[in-house]
Amino acid sequence: MMRQQALAALLCTCAADKVAAVAKINPTQLDTSSSLAEPAGIPGRPDRPELVGPFQVRQRSVNSAVGRAALIHSLVHIEFNAINLALDIIWRFEGMPQAFYLDWVQVAREEAYHFSLLADHLKSMGFAYGDFPAHDGLWDMARRTSSDLLARLALVPRTLEARGLDASPAIRDKLRAAGDVRGAEILEIILRDEIGHVAIGNKWYGQLCTERGLDPIAQYRALARQYRAPRQRGPFNLEARREAGFSPAELEALQEEAVNPD
Ligand SMILES: [Fe+2]
Ligand SMILES: [Fe+2]
Repeated sequence: MMRQQALAALLCTCAADKVAAVAKINPTQLDTSSSLAEPAGIPGRPDRPELVGPFQVRQRSVNSAVGRAALIHSLVHIEFNAINLALDIIWRFEGMPQAFYLDWVQVAREEAYHFSLLADHLKSMGFAYGDFPAHDGLWDMARRTSSDLLARLALVPRTLEARGLDASPAIRDKLRAAGDVRGAEILEIILRDEIGHVAIGNKWYGQLCTERGLDPIAQYRALARQYRAPRQRGPFNLEARREAGFSPAELEALQEEAVNPD
C-alpha cells in the first residue's frame, strides 16, 4: 500500500536505499483512510552528517573549493530532509483526497531527484553527504507540527520551502560567479520544481482553510505564533511566490510582517 511504502522509505537510513524506495512507491495502491501507527526511527537518516545547532554551521567563502563543497553539502542535506518531509506527510495524515497523496508522491520523487543531482555534484568535488556538519531546522518544524496537518502545510511548504524560493537565485548567482556552472544549473532546476512544491502546499492549505471556514492569512499568523515559526525575512522572490499561488493579499501581509534585511 502506498502510504506504508512511503513510511518504509522514510525509515530507510541509507540515502541510496531511500532514493530507490521512493522510486518504487506505487501510487495505484492507495488507501487514504487508514490511520498508521508511528514506529520508532523517524526520520531514517545516516549516522553522518553530525547534526549541530544552526549557528554552529561554519560559513565559508564560496571562492575556495572546500567552501563551495560545504555550500553544496548544505543543499544536499536540505534535499535529504525534503524527501523525508514529503514522505512523512503521506503516511502521517489520513483522510485526505487521493489527489493529495499523489501530489506529495510527486514532491518526494522530485526531492529525491534534487538530492541525487546535488550529491553527484558534491562527489565530483571530492566529497560525500555526511562530510560536513549540518543543522536540523527543517525536521524540527516537522516534529513540532506532527499532529496538525494545517500547521504542517502552513509552516513547512508555505514557509520553509517558500524560503528556498527567495534564497536560491542568490545562491545560483554566487555559484555561477565562482565558476561553478553545473552547480548554478542544478539550482535552476530546483527553483523551477520548488515553485511547484510551494504551489501544492498552497493548494491544500487553501482547501483546508475553505473547508474549515478559516481566513488563510489570520490562520497563518496564528499558526506561526503557536508553533514558533521563524520570522520571515526579505528580500522575497515575489515573482516565484506569485507563481506558487500566494495571493496578492498574502504577499502584502508577508512584506508587512517581515524582518527587513537592513
Ligand atoms: Fe527540493
Ligand atoms: Fe521541495
